[in-house]
Amino acid sequence: MEEGNAHDLPKPHPSILKVIEKKKEIRSKLSKIKHRIGVYSAKGGVGKTTTSVNIAYSLKALGYRVGILDADIDCPNVTMFLGIENKLKGDYPLMPVEKDGIKVISSAMFMDDLSKPIIWRGPMIGKMVSELIENTDWGELDYLVLDLPPGTSDSPLSVIQLMDLDGFVLVTSPQHIAAVNAIRSGTMAKRLGVGLIGVVESMSDGVGNGGEEVSKALDCRLLGRVLFDIKFNYLSDKGLVPFVESEAIREEYLKIAREIVGGS
Ligand SMILES: Nc1ncnc2c1ncn2[C@@H]1O[C@H](COP(=O)(O)OP(=O)(O)OP(=O)(O)O)[C@@H](O)[C@H]1O
Ligand SMILES: [Mg+2]
Repeated sequence: MEEGNAHDLPKPHPSILKVIEKKKEIRSKLSKIKHRIGVYSAKGGVGKTTTSVNIAYSLKALGYRVGILDADIDCPNVTMFLGIENKLKGDYPLMPVEKDGIKVISSAMFMDDLSKPIIWRGPMIGKMVSELIENTDWGELDYLVLDLPPGTSDSPLSVIQLMDLDGFVLVTSPQHIAAVNAIRSGTMAKRLGVGLIGVVESMSDGVGNGGEEVSKALDCRLLGRVLFDIKFNYLSDKGLVPFVESEAIREEYLKIAREIVGGS
């Protein structure tokens, strides 16, 4: 039988070509970013944004060029955690706001009133995430940290679909319930071909072992534990970063960042 060549193959559907083209375009736009790390758990309130911000500061302190992309469109909290009040007009390319030498972009920068809810269906959320991913001019970065929302649906899927992530840092609190949800998130990531960098146990009481449970179940590293400390609450509410304000907290996150760098 004669061997067919590429010219004989049926042409892919235009919609597939469009997706391939878009991925290529995004890949070339993001080519100046060496590492892309998603901070994730399906469970809400376990410390994802806190982890994202403090890891970013740790990586910066270790000498890396760092950016944070707030991929939580419903409840974009990164700007509040960082005390950023700048608003962007939405001119392309989007220029991130710089805080303490870290480049930050968030949908909150396009909202006048952060107390008003965003009532969008999945496709709109996905579109906003892709707007931020496709149109931000990061320049050269060593690490881009993506703060993901909870859940296992649209937002994490959009990020996974659009970006080649190095992997996820999973966040859990010490409780078994939080660990189960982090395991659920890690299992989804694995199924979709995204690697796991490791797990951070946030708000640790030094007794519970949620982090270890996740690490064992998913066969990934326990990057570190961050002890529960009431300082987090009042610092975050004032837009102050615990990494900057407390030496003990700084040490815990630096240890985690070194683990991340060591494994990447
Ligand atoms: N180690 C800690 N000790 C005490 N409080 C903490 C600690 N880490 C985080 N917090 C506090 O817990 C609250 C929730 O944290 P955070 O917003 O980072 O969670 P999240 O997982 O991003 O939530 P969401 O799912 O809503 O995005 C915040 O008020 C934060 O300051
Ligand atoms: Mg958050």
